[in-house]
Amino acid sequence: MIKRKISVLLVLFTLLSLNGWAQEPVYLDTSKTIETRVKDALSRMTLEEKVELCHAQSKFSSKGVPRLGIPDVWSSDGSHGVSDEKLWDEWSSAQWTNDSCTAFPALTCLAATFNPDISLLYGKSIGEEARYRNKTMLLGPGVNIYRTPLNGRNFEYMGEDPFLASRMVVPYIQGVQSNGVAACVKHFALNNQEISRGEINVNVSARALYEIYLPAFKAAVQEGNVWSIMGAYNKIWGVHSCHNDLLLNKILKNDWKFDGVVVSDWGGVHSTDEAVNNGLDIEMGTYTNGLTTQGHFPFSSYYLADPFLKGIKSGKYEISKLDDKASRILRMIFRTTMSPNRPFGRFVSPEHSSAARKIADEGIVLLKNNKQFLPIPEGKYTKIAVIGENAARSLIVGGGSTSLKAAYEISPLQGLKNKYGENHIVYSMGYASGPSLYGAEEPSKLNLDSLRTAAVEVASHADLVLFVGGLNKNYFQDCESGDRKSLSLPFGQDKLIEDILKVNKNVGVILLSGNAVLMPWLDKTPAVLQGWYLGSEAGNALADIISGDVNPSGKLPISFPKKLEDVGAHAFDKLCYPGDGVNVYYKEDILVGYRWYDTKNIPVLFPFGHGLSYTTFQYGKPTISSKSITTADSLVVTIPVKNTGKVVGKEVVQLYVNDEKSSLPRPLKELKGFDKISLQPGEEKTVSFTLTKEDVSYYDDKKNAWIAEPGNFKIMIGASAADIKGTASFILK
Ligand code: BGC
Repeated sequence: MIKRKISVLLVLFTLLSLNGWAQEPVYLDTSKTIETRVKDALSRMTLEEKVELCHAQSKFSSKGVPRLGIPDVWSSDGSHGVSDEKLWDEWSSAQWTNDSCTAFPALTCLAATFNPDISLLYGKSIGEEARYRNKTMLLGPGVNIYRTPLNGRNFEYMGEDPFLASRMVVPYIQGVQSNGVAACVKHFALNNQEISRGEINVNVSARALYEIYLPAFKAAVQEGNVWSIMGAYNKIWGVHSCHNDLLLNKILKNDWKFDGVVVSDWGGVHSTDEAVNNGLDIEMGTYTNGLTTQGHFPFSSYYLADPFLKGIKSGKYEISKLDDKASRILRMIFRTTMSPNRPFGRFVSPEHSSAARKIADEGIVLLKNNKQFLPIPEGKYTKIAVIGENAARSLIVGGGSTSLKAAYEISPLQGLKNKYGENHIVYSMGYASGPSLYGAEEPSKLNLDSLRTAAVEVASHADLVLFVGGLNKNYFQDCESGDRKSLSLPFGQDKLIEDILKVNKNVGVILLSGNAVLMPWLDKTPAVLQGWYLGSEAGNALADIISGDVNPSGKLPISFPKKLEDVGAHAFDKLCYPGDGVNVYYKEDILVGYRWYDTKNIPVLFPFGHGLSYTTFQYGKPTISSKSITTADSLVVTIPVKNTGKVVGKEVVQLYVNDEKSSLPRPLKELKGFDKISLQPGEEKTVSFTLTKEDVSYYDDKKNAWIAEPGNFKIMIGASAADIKGTASFILK
């Protein structure tokens, strides 16, 4: 009797398992590897379901596999805050009331910290916000190299140096992804201008591509293990980047072994054949042009939707291509929304505010400070005039896809009032710029002459003037889809500053921008701060630095040129920038940023790596572990640095390398190491750097290989690219 019962139960159990009821399917079994789960899920899916993974279903989402309980993929801009929810198939806000985020400083500010620990904090904090909002993918960070100061999107990127961008992008990704949210590094590659971005064909040497424009993406993949990458709008060597065989199949997926998802930029796909064959995985935003045009087409008509399915069914496209795309997307879903280890995140927490403030504090750069004009202790001045629109204007909205709905924003004016007391501050707008529009420019209706006259009057009665200006996130300023028209400060600010200086010499200039600007008044003003776009905590952070509560320690991730023609990209004809609408030729080649100014001996306003402190540092003599090494060895360089001033301070010690004689021309200096150290007054620390053959190699485009050529190399240790404190030499055998 008992035996019979057992066998009945066994039969029942077998029947149940055959039907998949008793046992969990493998793809849901979290004790199995992701690869096993991906394979299993794929084996259960229909062709239609696989194709549905590969294209958008709404403005910011693509389908999962509802039948199998595999969630949709939801993405969100941007790299310095999690945007508000958008309508299903519109760019406009969905007007939720629970989606106002913490705005973190823009990425030029992060790069200016020269501090990978701060980048980890940044990634972790913004990743927590993205996780709380249940995003699969955060559309950032951007690591396109700063080629021209006119590029409207430079503020979204990490400066002009590939080594700096590489070191900073890795911890950012790790921080984001520790939350079970995929970082999406963008825009791969060479989206270095907004003019004609959708069609411009970038002609660049393989050497410049590998040495300057790709390293940060490579680090993101190989060291950051990034789970997704966004293609760029432009073409490279004749083919659109979002479906470019060389870039996506060869370099990214084959050479770098990227196992994640390639997402198109919104509207960056132009052909089913190329999208299927050349390495794209998810198609987004087709029939739109960035945020400006809005067609209404069914998502099923996307290049990777019905035309793809039809091609698979007719045998035109290999099924392996579809399976590869679907596997990558499933892998990302298993790594993120289906990860059993996914934390819960948090949103607009006090920790995020303090992270935003810390990032801003460390990224603000003190460019000039004559006769200790700064810091300004509380109580020193009775009447402080704060002048300039940027003191009171929101610099979180605008700019295009990075525009944020922030939970709060402390303006510079508010921050200064909080610090020095409402009674000691008098504000005058001074200039006006009009609303932050996307794809259109609308001058302010206010009268600039009257604004200037009123500001000069206020300045003439003040003990001290703090001018807060710069750029903003209007079209043709720091804004997506357009470049700046000039390197000068807009909206009459230069004249305004000059006029103020005529009535009051005590003027500190605070520039908020993501780009370098000209400063014709520089000799006449005692102090200049570069404050970038600082996010929710802008005013508090600026007050921290201005008052001396925090000692500035930011360094420039970009050079400030003396004039536009001095910039490599502008030293040639129009074909070099912005191109003829069809082609652009990167004639300056590998000489981007300080590599150009140094090698061509062109003086700059402020060099790459520059940034002052309220204390002073003394550099000792550098020593090296060996005078001669082979390519198998590494070299250790050490240098003592001492705080010789009266306050605690942080210094970014920078190491540059020069190949004294080379078969191919090389820049005079290349950054290959930096370390930010904190020193108490009188304290000394020894900084050490390890160099390997990678740090002295160049890319030979004839041999298609990195070459470490034997010979003499010079090491320069400095406080900026132009302030070298000590040198040493070694021979590579
Ligand atoms: C931008 C991307 C952005 C996407 C979605 C595009 O216009 O180039 O950086 O992530 O829109 O908003």
